[in-house]
Amino acid sequence: MIVYLNGEFLPSGEARISPDDRGFVFGDGVYEVTRAVRGQPFAAEAHWKRLETGLRELGIRTSLDSGRILEIYLRLLSENALEDGEATIYLQVTRGRAPRAHAFPPATIQPTVYAFASRFSPPIEQRRAGVNAITYPDIRWSRCDIKTVNLLPNVLAKQKAVEMGGWEAVLVRDGVLIEGSSSNLFGVIDGELRTYPRTNYILPGITRQVVLELAAELGIPAREAPIFVGEMGRLEELFLTGTATDVQGIVTLDGYRVGDGVVGPITKALWEGLMGRLGSSIS
Ligand code: PDD
Repeated sequence: MIVYLNGEFLPSGEARISPDDRGFVFGDGVYEVTRAVRGQPFAAEAHWKRLETGLRELGIRTSLDSGRILEIYLRLLSENALEDGEATIYLQVTRGRAPRAHAFPPATIQPTVYAFASRFSPPIEQRRAGVNAITYPDIRWSRCDIKTVNLLPNVLAKQKAVEMGGWEAVLVRDGVLIEGSSSNLFGVIDGELRTYPRTNYILPGITRQVVLELAAELGIPAREAPIFVGEMGRLEELFLTGTATDVQGIVTLDGYRVGDGVVGPITKALWEGLMGRLGSSIS
């Protein structure tokens, strides 16, 4: 595999990152995961904007811009023979290599920029059948809007889901279903779509935004409002969204059936709509 590291394209086995890198020592960095279909990154500009916001919020200065990122993505897809079918591209930027000290290093320290692309085949049967999920306490910090590589609470939540025979953990904060450990969450109650508002407590998902647009186009009533734990029994449908999650129906939550226990019509319509936007085949 050919990866990108600090201006160079090289075999992954030759990519070297220092143990003094602040990404390794402090988790001091941000990342993006972007989908590509037939060699074309999807919503690359929106991903760049979110990365740029994260970098600004953390005070990490780079010379990257959306044009350069797109060049890197296209070259990774071509170098790795990923221009047919589907792929995901991972990009990480850390504050760079410096002797361990909590405060920022001098401005002369260059950030570390690393990216790779890999084959992605959406699990179509799983999308159709739905998945099991569990609830798990949201023990993350209060800047969940920044896509930081500090993912330990997310890792612990997902691991618990796997141990319980589930696919995703729905994070609960103050009696509210917030989002998944690596996805956003939507529910349907009384025929109305609901998803947690865009605040510091969720990642502003690119897929979430596309799904809200699709709902408007399809005439599905939708509101950015919390779903309370006390409303779980009233959920007619529940689904996750994300770059590698698409629109993924949840059919049981904590072992209880959601709605009729099958992927519901709104979930299905939005999944098909998203696949259309992506240019992804679902047959
Ligand atoms: N995760 N919420 C969280 C906590 C996430 O980690 C993600 C994405 C999303 C969905 O965002 P988007 O639609 O922009 O992918 C929501 C990525 C894919 C990951 O960590 O692999």
